[in-house]
Amino acid sequence: MTRRSCAIYAVGVICSTLLIVGIGLVVAQVFRTVMHNRLKKEIVLVEGSRVFESWKRPPPPVYMEFFFFNITNVEAVLTGAKPQVTQVGPYTYREYRYKDNVSMVENGTKVSAYNTKSFVFLRDKSVGDPTEDNITTVNIPAWAVMNKLKGNFWKASMVSVWMNSIGAGFFTTRSVNELLWGYEDPLLARLSVISPDVDKIFGLMVNKNGTNDGEFVFHTGEENYLDYGRVVTWKGQSALTFWTTNQSNIINGSDGSAFHPLIDKNERIYIFTPDLCRTIYMEFEKDVEVRGIPAYRFTPPRSVLASKEENPDNEGFCVSPQECLGTGLLKVSPCRKGAPVVASFPHFYLADEKYVAAVEGLSPERVHHQTFLDLNPTTGVIVRANKRAQVNILIGRVGGFPVFTNETIMPVMFLNESVEIDEASAGRVHKLLLIVTVVSNFPLIIVALGAIMLAVFIILLYRAHREKTHSEDETSYSPVSGKEKEDPQNGTYIGMTEKVDGQA
Ligand SMILES: *[C@@H]1O[C@H](CO)[C@@H](O)[C@H](O)[C@H]1NC(C)=O
Ligand SMILES: *[C@@H]1O[C@H](CO)[C@@H](O)[C@H](O)[C@H]1NC(C)=O
Ligand SMILES: *[C@@H]1O[C@H](CO)[C@@H](O)[C@H](O)[C@H]1NC(C)=O
Ligand SMILES: *[C@@H]1O[C@H](CO)[C@@H](O)[C@H](O)[C@H]1NC(C)=O
Ligand SMILES: *[C@@H]1O[C@H](CO)[C@@H](O)[C@H](O)[C@H]1NC(C)=O
Ligand SMILES: *[C@@H]1O[C@H](CO)[C@@H](O)[C@H](O)[C@H]1NC(C)=O
Ligand SMILES: *[C@@H]1O[C@H](CO)[C@@H](O)[C@H](O)[C@H]1NC(C)=O
Repeated sequence: MTRRSCAIYAVGVICSTLLIVGIGLVVAQVFRTVMHNRLKKEIVLVEGSRVFESWKRPPPPVYMEFFFFNITNVEAVLTGAKPQVTQVGPYTYREYRYKDNVSMVENGTKVSAYNTKSFVFLRDKSVGDPTEDNITTVNIPAWAVMNKLKGNFWKASMVSVWMNSIGAGFFTTRSVNELLWGYEDPLLARLSVISPDVDKIFGLMVNKNGTNDGEFVFHTGEENYLDYGRVVTWKGQSALTFWTTNQSNIINGSDGSAFHPLIDKNERIYIFTPDLCRTIYMEFEKDVEVRGIPAYRFTPPRSVLASKEENPDNEGFCVSPQECLGTGLLKVSPCRKGAPVVASFPHFYLADEKYVAAVEGLSPERVHHQTFLDLNPTTGVIVRANKRAQVNILIGRVGGFPVFTNETIMPVMFLNESVEIDEASAGRVHKLLLIVTVVSNFPLIIVALGAIMLAVFIILLYRAHREKTHSEDETSYSPVSGKEKEDPQNGTYIGMTEKVDGQA
């Protein structure tokens, strides 16, 4: 009987120890903290780290779709009618991205790189042949030149006559290929003779194939995990010069290719976009799952492109105060050599209703026109992303030119750049997440073991108690065994109580 009570006692001690240690570890989150520190240390942009290779050459395929707005009532628009457009597309390209000339700078705390992109057309994912399909749209070079001549009636009239003589209208019909990758524009060709810094080739994506958008210097994230992938300088500058306030000129956040681990739902994700010449931000929208990987969906809120009345922070984006636009638009003229280019979300999603109403044929929808970023919160890995942006031209009356249309933001093209994590990368993320989960929850295993031991302990106690009452009923009960049974029971209770009091 001594051996038996000893066993009960031992079970009691082990169970209480496991419970105390386990609960202690759960409360203190020691394993979780260890695991998180490990993630912070491993997710850095240095040679030999897990993430460096996939940062340099991201394996998931990126697709770029272009949609054009074909204007179907050009003649009427010139005399002041409401423009009618039909959407044509997609023209899809596979986008190849890699980081070029990667080198460590400033003692390895920062890394410098060029982000090179090239595009290969995919016929079977497109609606037609971009060399054949003709789109009628705004003659962008002409409007850029006209914009420069605003307020100079005499010069404008001269150029108007000149444009007429070379057959350059306010609208033009060009193939998709020409509009994207460039064509020689007759007006620009003439101008380039006079001023050599004018490029006679015009295209929305001209010189964007196989090239980069300048040198970036990034934080490696070694000093602070929150800085992982954050842009330090772009083209050697730590702030922009296009806008009128420091707030607007700030270069903040990542370039969209790397995000720090341990993302919080309440944080704002900042992304610097050279295409838009500014930093934008995204906020948490909802939880999603991609290939079984949990993710947070971040999306730009309306306030990002809100007018300065709606969001005073945006004041600096309105460079000439008398020409401020409403919500949902960003006039990017300062970084487009003064051309009247306006960026927005496709179909003026999140913009003032009047811009949608001004053009026949637009219908903004969240599912099709929203930009979003799905990030795995533990690792910061991009599991899916869609960048959607529209290029518009501000048209209207310009003194000296025979055009009578009201001021309109004329949509030209929008793009849909999408990426989804590939099978192999998803497998690696799954494995990593499994390790993190198991290690972080290790204390729970201890608690579970403790709970099992507690159950065993209670059963043993109950059995011992029943045997005792049983033997007390019996007259042939021997006093020796009765005494032995009583003592260990009490002892165990006391032992356990003491231990709990002592450690708690
Ligand atoms: C664009 O519209 C014109 C008529 O306005 C039409 O002839 C042309 O085929 C359209 N282009 C495409 C690619 O649908
Ligand atoms: C152009 O503006 C005038 C005056 O503001 C307005 O009466 C007219 O309806 C507008 N036209 C279109 C097509 O919006
Ligand atoms: C990368 O470095 C090579 C050699 O130093 C240089 O010729 C090349 O122009 C650089 N590439 C970029 C994109 O700067
Ligand atoms: C690089 O490290 C060395 C030695 O630690 C130090 O003397 C030097 O100032 C550092 N240079 C920079 C640019 O941080
Ligand atoms: C871009 O360049 C690659 C080769 O560098 C070429 O295969 C591809 O066709 C080009 N894309 C376009 C749209 O010109
Ligand atoms: C597009 O325009 C070109 C030149 O004007 C013409 O040769 C071609 O047939 C047109 N394509 C279509 C599909 O109409
Ligand atoms: C953009 O691309 C994604 C992924 O390829 C696709 O699911 C979506 O329908 C596209 N959006 C539009 C507006 O075509």
